Amino acid sequence: MNLVIKSDYESLSLAAAQAIMELSKQKKEVNICLPTGTTPKGMYKALVDLHQAGQADFSFINWFTLDEYLGIPLSSPFSCYQQITELFYEPTGISKDRIFTFNSEAKDLDAEAARYNAIIEHMGGLDLAIVGIGMNGHVGFNEPGSSANAPTRVIDLHERTLVQSKKYFTDDHPIPTKGITLGMKTLLQSKEVFVVANGEEKADIVKVAIHGPVSDDVPVSHFQTHAGATFLLDTLAASKLK
Ligand code: F6R
Repeated sequence: MNLVIKSDYESLSLAAAQAIMELSKQKKEVNICLPTGTTPKGMYKALVDLHQAGQADFSFINWFTLDEYLGIPLSSPFSCYQQITELFYEPTGISKDRIFTFNSEAKDLDAEAARYNAIIEHMGGLDLAIVGIGMNGHVGFNEPGSSANAPTRVIDLHERTLVQSKKYFTDDHPIPTKGITLGMKTLLQSKEVFVVANGEEKADIVKVAIHGPVSDDVPVSHFQTHAGATFLLDTLAASKLK
């Protein structure tokens, strides 16, 4: 595991964008998974800026949504897919056949989780996973209790996640209580992983993730064992590290 600490949110976002830019420069097909939430917004902005400046060619990249809420349509502005579409796919004109996402409206969601994971396997696995850290140490929706072998699956969202994510929803559109997520197993098989966290509120969980024992109680700690994983932090999120 590697550790990179940036002075502020802007340079952290640029560094995350740069990880994607490096892969795009290889001009060969690669598979990248993308998160939603507050953390990656700056990264999406940096990627859109680079694209508008004519410096980015994403045409060889296949994009995979990391996780999705259940019980809301994919077309809802609250779905992870729509959020990434608005922030990144649309402004950069990424072709629809390069975009892969959970069909969260499938009748058989267990079969859907297996189908989505099989696509990734069939395409050679992930080359890069960009993930955030939940306040309870979750990755995607791999909530506490998720082992390194946890498969891609349907999951009940943890109480802490429901509190943390409440800010993204409204009274008319309350937060769903279930999600579907790429499993720890698939994420740990990614050649590279960028675990991104910013801000003081993440300092405690970042400390546990990096200095604590590798534990299913804190799923993000599993990346300590991954040679290709980089914890990418700003100084505030890193402020409690030794
Ligand atoms: C979102 C996701 C979550 C978030 C995490 C951090 O797709 O998978 O695991 O990455 O909850 O969220 P923010 O960035 O809002 O602090």
